[in-house]
Amino acid sequence: MDIVYDKEHKTFSVETENSGYYIALADGENFAGHVHYGKKLGKKDDLVQLLKVNEYPFTPSKLKREKLSFFDAFQWEYPCGGMGDFRESALDIRNGQGQSAVSLSVRSHEIRQGKPALEGLPASWGSDRDCMTLILHCADDILGLEVDLFYSVFDGIDAIARHAEIRNSGNETLEIRKALSLCLDMDRQDRQFDFISLQGSWARERHIERVPLHHGKTNVYSTRGETSHQQNNFAALAECGADWDKGEVYGLSLVYSGNFITQAELNQFDAIRFVTGINPETFSWQLAPGKRFVTPEAVLLYSDRGLNGMSQGFHKLWRKHLIRSSWRDRSRPVLINNWEATFFDFDTEKLLSIAREAARHGIEMLVMDDGWFGQRDSDNSSLGDWFVNERKLPGGLARLVDEVNRLGLKFGIWFEPEMISPDSELYRQHPDWAIQVASREPGQARQQYVLDISRKEVRDCIYARLKKVLESANIEYVKWDMNRPLSDLGSACLSKEQAGELSHRYVLGMYEMQERLVTDFPKLLLENCSGGGGRFDAGMLYYSPQIWCSDDTDAIERLAIQEGSALVYPLSSMGAHISVCPNQACGRMTPFRTRGFVALAGTFGYELDITSMSDEDKALIDAQVALYHRCNPLIREGDYYRIASARENGSDYDAWELVSGDKTEALVTLVQVLNRPNWHSRKVIIKGLDPARSYRIAVEDSLGKTQELGIWSALTLEGAGLLLSRPWGDFQSQLIHLTAV
Ligand code: GLA
Repeated sequence: MDIVYDKEHKTFSVETENSGYYIALADGENFAGHVHYGKKLGKKDDLVQLLKVNEYPFTPSKLKREKLSFFDAFQWEYPCGGMGDFRESALDIRNGQGQSAVSLSVRSHEIRQGKPALEGLPASWGSDRDCMTLILHCADDILGLEVDLFYSVFDGIDAIARHAEIRNSGNETLEIRKALSLCLDMDRQDRQFDFISLQGSWARERHIERVPLHHGKTNVYSTRGETSHQQNNFAALAECGADWDKGEVYGLSLVYSGNFITQAELNQFDAIRFVTGINPETFSWQLAPGKRFVTPEAVLLYSDRGLNGMSQGFHKLWRKHLIRSSWRDRSRPVLINNWEATFFDFDTEKLLSIAREAARHGIEMLVMDDGWFGQRDSDNSSLGDWFVNERKLPGGLARLVDEVNRLGLKFGIWFEPEMISPDSELYRQHPDWAIQVASREPGQARQQYVLDISRKEVRDCIYARLKKVLESANIEYVKWDMNRPLSDLGSACLSKEQAGELSHRYVLGMYEMQERLVTDFPKLLLENCSGGGGRFDAGMLYYSPQIWCSDDTDAIERLAIQEGSALVYPLSSMGAHISVCPNQACGRMTPFRTRGFVALAGTFGYELDITSMSDEDKALIDAQVALYHRCNPLIREGDYYRIASARENGSDYDAWELVSGDKTEALVTLVQVLNRPNWHSRKVIIKGLDPARSYRIAVEDSLGKTQELGIWSALTLEGAGLLLSRPWGDFQSQLIHLTAV
């Protein structure tokens, strides 16, 4: 990595190991222009030739009469609204008269080792040794506005983290109508791109979708107050023809957990503008004189090794420079969660019976899910009343947790801190704490309202309740849930002018509460969750090393969910459990082993009533837990390769692989989705091995038998593939261990 300023040509080279991002300042006005992003360029004094200012219509200082044509064609680093660039702007600001026009010029810059933190927001981090940052100090004197653009690079990772900081240096309040995190103006008429995004719904999160980019705007967004089940705040531009292993891909991920927009716009000149940031539809911000607004961070990742190269880059960045938890590099305890086992119908005795049986089979933690507090016997009450229900748990948490600990298990607990039930003591005391529009009855979802955690007194009260519970017993894990979107956007405490700030203030409030939690309980294993995987994003990974992927625990449904999640997020962050069959979400019957292999590709655990399982299945748990302990270091830390996708091959089979950093070991999981007659074997390409070595192959088939397939050279395995017999039947699976000899 390196960041260099060429004074003579007024250009900046921001380089990572295998990519280069180049900026040049336009003569005269010192506008920050984008030159190139992708493969590293050779001669750096070419850069100024590449900036499109030397051709008609020239910069306004040279050719005033065509200022608008210039503005609408220039490749801006941070385009502003109102001045003649008619594409999507990154920044829109209204002055004291309510008019909107911004023009930013670069005044100075800094190149620093390390990376500054973002106030109140999650962001990637690094030391002076493994990070470097460029800051472009820009200003608009007429508006009295200063904008700093940040670009950070990381040792050994082809990522650039960016954000903007906006300061009011004038003497009237400015209204920010839009402040995106970054813009990438890509002048790549040499090739066509596809737009890749993660689409879904409840229980069907993050399915990969790929469409050709067309003229106009293609976007993903959320206005739900959270990232959403429907669209994730990630998108990629992949050159047409790029696949898992080859071709250029530009990934873009927003480190944020609220309303967002990520958009690619193909314009009249076939250039692409790729932007991301807080969704302006539900956002405005009053910026008083002297005040500063910090946008969330967004990360660009360039790969010329297809989608696998992009995924590996994101995984590495999140694992080394975003996740902070002390659990980050450790195997997580194998847990058993009682949600799908009991729903709300449990008591101390039931939980202990699960814990007793779990202890016999190597399970290491019991997680008590929803239903332990207030009067909560169904989802119709008590959110906010974070007091133990002594009817269900006589003797309180201490008795239960002590007993669970005595059995040798850790104990974890579920909370939904951001919510309030209309039927709760909390609501009866503070009806104005629910987010609502004056004079309107707020809409319910799952019979609950959202707490106005933009208010400090609300955060303080809820956090104090949480803390008290956590201090009352030896609780080592928390599942932080959030089960409905935000609507009826009104806060009793925000003025008319500030009403548009609620959605972002809500997210900042939630971050502040999670920050307090991880600071006060540094050893806690925190798992975020939102009605399954509605808030699975890089922002939440800053607080919790793992996030519940989906309420759909069916192993076959999970294939697409986990494939999409792994496109951006490391397997170590994907909450995955084994549940009973027929599956409670879709009624499917899937072999226990396949359910195990799919859950192994995440944090691993159980979500079932172990006390009512057959002895045959219970015996399989011991073997699965042993397998988890054997394979988890590789799954957690290895380089991830997608080999095959049932989404792409007509529901035939899915296969993925993890390769150890030193390439001495690899693990391939193959799941047959729908089997077909008369196809007796298939060649499976094994990726990422050391080409100079050979590997011993051991296949665990769906019957639990291990078959040695001899020693194969990496060149054969990568070039021709491993010849494998097809698993017999639908939903069968194979686990293939490769060990270098
Ligand atoms: C959400 C979660 C589930 C479970 C329930 C409890 O749906 O995703 O795992 O915790 O809430 O109400």
